[in-house]
Amino acid sequence: MTTIIDGKALATKTKEALKQRIEDLKAKKIIPGLAVILVGENPASQIYVRGKEQDAKSLGFYFIIDRVPVSISQTELLKKVESYNKDEKIHGLLVQLPLPKHIDEEVITLAIDPQKDVDGFHPVNMGRLFMGDPLMIPCTPFGIMRMFEEYKIDLAGKEAVVIGRSNIVGKPVATLLTMANATVTVAHSRTQNLPAIAKRADILVVAIGRAHFVTKDFIKEGAVVIDVGMNRLENGKFVGDVKTEEVAQVASFITRIPGGVGPMTRAMLMEQTVIAAEQKR
Ligand code: GUN
Repeated sequence: MTTIIDGKALATKTKEALKQRIEDLKAKKIIPGLAVILVGENPASQIYVRGKEQDAKSLGFYFIIDRVPVSISQTELLKKVESYNKDEKIHGLLVQLPLPKHIDEEVITLAIDPQKDVDGFHPVNMGRLFMGDPLMIPCTPFGIMRMFEEYKIDLAGKEAVVIGRSNIVGKPVATLLTMANATVTVAHSRTQNLPAIAKRADILVVAIGRAHFVTKDFIKEGAVVIDVGMNRLENGKFVGDVKTEEVAQVASFITRIPGGVGPMTRAMLMEQTVIAAEQKR
């Protein structure tokens, strides 16, 4: 029997569990504050930011979307980041990516105060994570680890394979799995014999960004499969990196799209903003 890992339900539970912590902060006159800078009108970014707004408002956060035109200069954008870095009411700050070509994402990411970097993308936060002393953790990997915890999936000594080596998912999730005592292989688009390597995995995390890339030929009987993919097909539908229906016939646990990793990413952003507010105190 395959268990569906219900990211939507777990996200709801995660946000519910934050309510008491938010009340405790409010009793000390602290309202968690989250600012999102949205540059231009990228349709996907607008949808993501609206989701963050819904979550933040439903939790009673102080929430700002700062919409700026695509023509904003890098210097002007840096000034905005600086002003939120200094703003006492703001505990979490993120600049929605991607940014227009004339702006260097690395420069902007570096400008965010690491204490307010609720995305966990700043090199200081990446470095601290890799050294085993995390402050802010990228939200998708953080959410995936929470899923393992919730479903009591034991990681110690297990063979984990991560497909994808991005800074925001593949590398940090591999680090977190290592910290949880799994034996981790990071595979990617240039890996030879990828299906054979994936088939060794007790735990398979797929974040390669290719629609329906992973078939049941990649899966060991009873593996846990986490699909981080979000690929837009020509018909406008979103699908993951995994052929869910056929893989579910072999896997013991699997996430779906929608209702898998996505809602957990957002929930962890909320949790991390609460953590930032608590640490500020
Ligand atoms: N664009 C797509 N996902 C994300 C995210 O998690 N954070 C930011 N800042 N931009 C994104």
